Amino acid sequence: MDMRDSVVIITGASAGLGEATARLFAREGARVALVARSADTLDRLAAALPGSLAVPTDLCDGAAIARMVARVHAHYGRIDLLINNAGQASPGPVEHVDVARYRALMDLNLYGPLLAMQAVIPLMRAQGGGLIFNISTALTKRPLYLPGLGAYVSTKYALNALTLTARAELAADNIRIGVIYPGLMTTAFGTHAPTAATGWPSAPAGAPETGWPGAPAGAPTSRPPGAPTPETPEAVAALILDAVRHEPAELEAHRAFPGAAPHGADVASGEEDARQSVGTLGAAIP
Ligand SMILES: NC(=O)c1ccc[n+]([C@@H]2O[C@H](COP(=O)([O-])OP(=O)(O)OC[C@H]3O[C@@H](n4cnc5c(N)ncnc54)[C@H](OP(=O)(O)O)[C@@H]3O)[C@@H](O)[C@H]2O)c1
Repeated sequence: MDMRDSVVIITGASAGLGEATARLFAREGARVALVARSADTLDRLAAALPGSLAVPTDLCDGAAIARMVARVHAHYGRIDLLINNAGQASPGPVEHVDVARYRALMDLNLYGPLLAMQAVIPLMRAQGGGLIFNISTALTKRPLYLPGLGAYVSTKYALNALTLTARAELAADNIRIGVIYPGLMTTAFGTHAPTAATGWPSAPAGAPETGWPGAPAGAPTSRPPGAPTPETPEAVAALILDAVRHEPAELEAHRAFPGAAPHGADVASGEEDARQSVGTLGAAIP
């Protein structure tokens, strides 16, 4: 897809990967609808990005998602690309997963993207097509099950399945849908994860630094030798831009995981390095 003058919705645009992607896409000439809860942050970002629109939205609220999509469509008259990026972790061992908290995590990481897709699909069909990318995690492409991340990663496995099924269902409507798997990133993702009542008193030995998904407050900040180097969100945003241009079904958007090959042979990656595995991380985090 050509970015210039395209209308793009980016959720989770107030921080981290979403903000980096919004800034890059605006530089490429896209008109970006900025979606997250932090209205002031979105307003400041919108003021810096010509043609953009701040749409404060709680993505755990289905009615608010429908209003958000309707507002973007009314403002721009079309929606070319939806990037479902907003997400959160909820660390804690499976034995102590709080089901109410898990449901809230599903609201944000799974049902939110689903409802956003359901809202844009009829609009995209009516305009002759469109593009949707959902942001998952590289942990779903590896035979690796990190202690404490079961609830979080399971939401992303479900997101992968919905995404790739919808891709097949909507191909005839020229609606192209794909899933992107970032690795560790140097965002504040770990510190945004709620840590209360997780039953997780401290991070597992050797947990890597800021990018570790769901790392509790106070987690060790030193990265053990051999652990993957977190990517900057800007580097991952550049890979997302590449995905928007080439429209793969799946993209492993990282370069930092040395080791064995991923499971799943059909990953269409623009980056050969990105096909490598997280085996070293698995060794580093018992
Ligand atoms: N960081 C990593 O190492 C890593 C690795 C693999 C995959 N990922 C995935 O990459 C995506 C982006 O992660 P990130 O590292 O950029 O995270 P981040 O820095 O914590 O940013 C998360 C974004 O989601 C928004 N958000 C959270 N809850 C929301 C809600 N209820 N309604 C609307 N927006 C909400 C936040 O904005 P407000 O607080 O303003 O609402 C923020 O803009 C996530 O889907 C994550 O699962 C991250």
